[in-house]
Parts: sequence; C-alpha cells; structure tokens
Amino acid sequence: MDARDLLRSVRMAGSATGLRTTRAAWRTRRLDARDLPRPGPERARVPGAAVDAQPLPGGGVVAFGRSRLLVRVSVGGAVFCGWDGAEPEPSYALAPAGSPHGGAGGGLPAPDVRALLEPDKDGWRVVSERMTVLVSRHGAVEFRTPGGLLLRRELPPRWWDASGHEGGASRWVQRSQTPADARVYGLGGRAAGPRLADGTYRLWNTDPGGAFAPGDDPLYITMPVQLVVADAGCHLLFHDNTWDGQVTLRDGEEGEGSGHDRPGGCELRMEGGPLRYWVIAGTPARVLSGWTALTGRPALPPRWALGHHHSRWGFGNEQEVRRIAAGYRERDLPLSVIHLDIDHYDGHRVFTVDREAYPDLPRLARELEDRGIRLVSIVDPAVKAEPGLAEYDSGLAAGAFVRDARGREVEGVVWPGPAVFPDFTDPKVRHWWGGLYAERLGQGFAGVWHDMNEPVSFAAFGDPTLPRSARHHLEGRGGDHREAHNVYGLAMARAAYEGLRELRPEQRPFLFSRSGWAGMQRYGGTWSGDVATGWQGLRASLALVLGLGLCGVPYSGPDVGGFTGSPSPELYLRWFQLGAYLPLFRTHSAHDAGRREPWEFGPRVLEHARAALAERTRLLPYFETLAHIARGTGAPYVRPLWWTSPADRALRECGDAFLLGDALLVAPVMEPGSAKRAVRLPRGLWYDTATGEAHRGPGQVLLDAPLDRIPVLARAGAVLPVAGPDGGIELEAWAPRAGRTGGGVVFTGDPEGWEPPRMTRFVSRWAGDRVVVEADGGGEPDYAVRVRGAGG
Ligand code: NOJ
Repeated sequence: MDARDLLRSVRMAGSATGLRTTRAAWRTRRLDARDLPRPGPERARVPGAAVDAQPLPGGGVVAFGRSRLLVRVSVGGAVFCGWDGAEPEPSYALAPAGSPHGGAGGGLPAPDVRALLEPDKDGWRVVSERMTVLVSRHGAVEFRTPGGLLLRRELPPRWWDASGHEGGASRWVQRSQTPADARVYGLGGRAAGPRLADGTYRLWNTDPGGAFAPGDDPLYITMPVQLVVADAGCHLLFHDNTWDGQVTLRDGEEGEGSGHDRPGGCELRMEGGPLRYWVIAGTPARVLSGWTALTGRPALPPRWALGHHHSRWGFGNEQEVRRIAAGYRERDLPLSVIHLDIDHYDGHRVFTVDREAYPDLPRLARELEDRGIRLVSIVDPAVKAEPGLAEYDSGLAAGAFVRDARGREVEGVVWPGPAVFPDFTDPKVRHWWGGLYAERLGQGFAGVWHDMNEPVSFAAFGDPTLPRSARHHLEGRGGDHREAHNVYGLAMARAAYEGLRELRPEQRPFLFSRSGWAGMQRYGGTWSGDVATGWQGLRASLALVLGLGLCGVPYSGPDVGGFTGSPSPELYLRWFQLGAYLPLFRTHSAHDAGRREPWEFGPRVLEHARAALAERTRLLPYFETLAHIARGTGAPYVRPLWWTSPADRALRECGDAFLLGDALLVAPVMEPGSAKRAVRLPRGLWYDTATGEAHRGPGQVLLDAPLDRIPVLARAGAVLPVAGPDGGIELEAWAPRAGRTGGGVVFTGDPEGWEPPRMTRFVSRWAGDRVVVEADGGGEPDYAVRVRGAGG
C-alpha cells in the first residue's frame, strides 16, 4: 500500500462504501491473480543485423536477424514505422474508415508512392518531401529534415518476450535522442506542463482521487503523443499503443562552443502491445494538420457551447437551478449553459432523474432554453448492478458488460454502489449505449458531459479501476483491460457521439469527456477534471489546455475557481479572467466546495467578472471562427507562444501566456497580489488592447495587470470578428506595421447544424495615413470595420 492508497482507505474507512471498496479491491486482486498470465521467464531480444531489404510503395521493409521494420510514408507526409510486423491498423487512434472525421473521410492514408526504400551508405533511406528516414544496419532509425538536420534518432528497440506469452504481451523499450535544444510537449493532459520537464510520465489514464495539483501524474487523459520543438524543426511522435507504459524525458545540453552537445533523451517503456509509431514533421500548424488528418478533425461545438457555462455538483433541486439562472439574469450577466451533475440522478443511477428534486425536467429545460440557456447532463459509464433497473437488465441481456475470464460480469463500486461497466470496445455495445441517450434528449438536455470513464471503480487500495484481467471485445480481436483501459473513455465517447447523431441527426452533438486517448477530438472535448483550488491549480489549468491542444484536442477548459474548497476573491477572479479566453469557459465545483457564482465574492469581483463575461461575449464571433479553424485544420484555439516562432528558444519555456488564434496574445495573472506582469512577446509588433500602446517583440515587457483585467495584446495587422453593440459581427482591425499588410479570416456558420460554413478572408493595409480593410480579392467588407492601434 503506498501513501496515496493509505490516505484513500483511511478516508473511506467506517462507511458502507469503505466496506464495499475494500471488498472490491480484494476482488480485483483475486481476479488478477487468477486470470492474468503468470510472469514467466523472459528472453531479451534486439533486432540484430540487417539481412535483407525490400522496397514497397511509400517505403519498404528491412529484415533484421530477429525482427523486421516496415517504413511507410503516407500522402501528406506522415511516416509510419512498425516493428515485428506491426501495421497501422487496427488502431483506436486513426479516424475510422468512411467516418466524417478524417481529412479525407477517415481511414488509412494512401502510401506516397514517390517514396521508396533505397540503399544508403550506412543502411537504407527513404526520401520524401517532408522528411528523410535513415535505417541503420542494426535498426536505429533517424528522421531528418529534407535539408539533413536531425529531428530524432530512435535507437534499436529491445523486447522481452515472455515464453508462451499471449500475442502482443512482450514488454519493450525504445530509447531515442533529440537535438540538445529540443523541448517536449503533450503526452495528453499533464498538470506540470505545458513544457514537459525532465522526469517520468506514466501512460495510464487515472483519476487521481480528490483533487490534483501540478505534482500529480498521471491524470485522466494520457497519450503517447509528443510534440517536439527544436531549432531544426518541429515534429510529432505518436506511439500507437494503448498499453500501460511510461515515458522518461531528459533535456539535452549544449556544449557551449565545445562542439559536444549532449542530446535530449526519451525512453519509452511499454508493458505490451505493438511497437509502431508515426512521425509527422513541419511547422506546428502543419504538424497539427497532419495529425488531425490522420486521427480525425476536431468536432465542431455548437455555437452555444462557446458561451459561459455554470455547473456545480449538488445544485440539489430545480429551484436552485432557477435561482442560479435568475441570479445571472438579474445581474445582467450572460449565461449560455447549466450543467447537472450526478446529484440529479435517482440514487446516482445513470439515465434516471430524481423526481422529487426535479419533478419536470423537460419543462425546466424549455424554460431555460427560452432564456437562451442550454442544459447539459453528466453521464457516467457505470450502471448500477440492480435487477429491475432498465439499463442493467437490457445491458445484461445484450451481454454489454465487461466480464472476467470465466464469463462473469465484473462488479465494481461507483457512486450508485455496486456497478457494472459497459464494454465500449464492442460495436454492438456502443450501439446499445448510444441508444440510451434518447432518454437524456427526452429530458431536454442539449449536450452531455462524460465523467468517471478512466474508468473509475472505487477501491480501498490498489488501482481504482477495472481488474487488468477483465476481458474486452476489442472490436472482435479479444483482449484484456491492460489493452483496453486507456481507450475506454475514447470508445465511450464514440458510442455517445454516434448515438446522438442517430437520435438527433440535424444537430451537432455536444460532448466532452474526462478521459480519452489519441483521436478523442473526433467526438468532442474535455475539461481539467478535479483541479485543486489554489494558484498552482490555476497554473495547471492552462498547462492542461495547452498540452491537450498540441495533442489534437482543442476544446477544453478548467473548473473555473477550482474544484475544491473556496478560492479567495482574487484567485476566483483571476481564474475567471483566464477562463474567459479558453474554449470551454465553465465554473464548476464539488458538492462540499464554496460558492462559485460571480456575485458571491463581493461587488468588486462581480464588476470585474462582468467585464470578463462582456469581453467573452464580444469575442464570440472570433471563438466561432477559431472553432471552424480547429475543425478544418487541427490548429488549437489556444496555442503556445512559440506557435509562429518555434525557433525562439525563450518562448519554448513560457507556460504563463498563450496565443488565442493568430490575432491575440493573452497573459493571465497567475500570482497573487500582482498589479503588473512580465510578458514575453514573439517577434512582431503587439498592441496592448487596453491602452493601445505598441510593443515590439521578441523580448519581454512589463504590463499593467490591474484587478479589473488581464493583459491581452493584439498582433499588428490582425483582423478579427467581434460582436458589435447590436450583436452583429464587426471587424476589429489592428493597424499593420508601417509599410506592411495584415489580415484575418471570418467563419460564419450554422449555429447547431451541419451546413458548411462561409469563410471570408480580409486584408488590411495602409492607404496614406489610413488603414483600410478589404475583402480578399477587393471590395468593401460586408461588416463594419473598427481600426485600432497606432494611427488607427
Ligand atoms: C468527478 C468529476 O471530475 C467532477 O467534475 C464531478 O463533479 C464529480 N465526479 C461528481 O460527478
């Protein structure tokens, strides 16, 4: 029992749950002891020397004494490497063939037939437009830019084959080197990011229990996705393997003129599963575009999901929901969405309603909708194991629940008590589960919020999830929880997304999910989970959003104010001000936490929160444009400062500010008592949007950050859509630098449906001493234009 376990069991001790979770933990232990393959003797293996090579469309296969390596370049430039016969499919990450998510309808991209394996002086090479891949005679693989600069070098892997092991159960390790100046981001949602410092990061989706702070790792979403930024260029590395594992990163060091750099290091250790990976190189924008072409473009949230959301675990009843809505209305504060947590269920049973507390939910939903507020429902995967309960009975009849090796349903413990878990890796089960959302739509919910889908099963000790030996369908291949665990949330999201599309085909589903894996953006977004209330939690919030965006998941945001306890008025306000610039802008907290309504922190905070809400409302057309850009290209709304200047090394270390699209730079205040803050600027000219003062980057500036706002800068030349006083779209144009031009795009589209959006491009330029904005191709814009910045 480690310290975390001990704490958990003490917390649970004495309660009925305590007894249940102790039993559940023992059950898991017994099942795993009985059903997991016993560790036996292992044999270490390396590829050995190359014996043969064969070109194939897009690359070829190199045969070594004890393994073989397939290298294949796809149209679009992504490179696949698979050892031991591993192919790109089957994969949970790749957009399913024929689905609407991929760049070109999903499915595996075709090989780039121009790329072919050919002999090189130390082995073989595959030359392609974006990258040159070099395979050595002992199985090292180098990825270089077309100009020859090293992006990464993968050393020959090593396997430990278990004698008599089930297919795919060999452990393996792969070490690699990156340039000394390389910096790594991603690996899913990491509280300590966005730049991942030296250390070990586990790949196993985990509910940290209680609340988390920056030191806690792993969290709910782990992904073997690394975005690496170096002077030589950027690349994304994705190991398509869902098993438990860990990544150890070590920064390189430059030899300060001695010519002896120590390269950066990465070691990936996996407990099983295929050794296969993808490498995508290019500018950050091209990398994200390539990545989301492969794994699916991000789902487009409905317009209302870009407004402000208010949530709480424990509203208690519909009067309280009405009181909150009225509180916003009476104070003239915009509110777009209210979320109902598990307390609105009947005894915590998913897809039910507590009729005493919520006697007429459809009516409440209609009432709120009339006032422009949508209702979103939490959905947990665990179904109460209770004969007579419709979801339990129908699931049992359909064989929907995860079973052990002897075919008995695996019982765990979640909020409703004893519970069973749908096996979302079975297409039949996804279909059954997707149909259950009809009940939520019938109650008037407009969207869903998936929780506890790591999945969590409470345990007094050990890992609070399903037994590793639990069996899963895995799309017909069969396997156990060691392989299925990390994709449980992803597959649940797929079930809901497909169900909602079938049930309500005219509307885009709104779905966000606590757990997930590579490719989850196809179905929706995510949020921070239970971020601890404190300044560190505030910083972790931004780290998570930035890191997830670089893994292809652009729509996310924190529990504004933190999940636990009571933030000070200052902390609440600074969190609120940050949240106003993040895609998912939602206040949420635990049932025993303090209030989170903007009016609960005194009149000053209320006025400043009002200003943040007003600015969010003004920026809604810009957020909508960013949502369409994310959908079309994979570029996240929230981007690290180095996005357009990856060669600026100082920016690679900056985790306290971000770019919101191309136009804005947002510098949230993340320290108590600050009235000013230092902001590092990328190259170019930037206007402080509050004062109009211009600052030249690269470099650092000290900006005013009074309590009523956080510093936001606009890029010279930017043209962005904002809401004008009458609610219609206006263009805000920031003067370009003298002699330069600028521009921007505006997407307007269907607020909730599937009509393709309209995109208009605008250019800005100086005409004498005036800045003019024209629609691309000439002509007056259809929108009113307001020029700001020097000379505007
Ligand atoms: C855990 C979630 O992270 C949190 O947001 C939610 O309020 C609770 N579960 C209760 O459903």
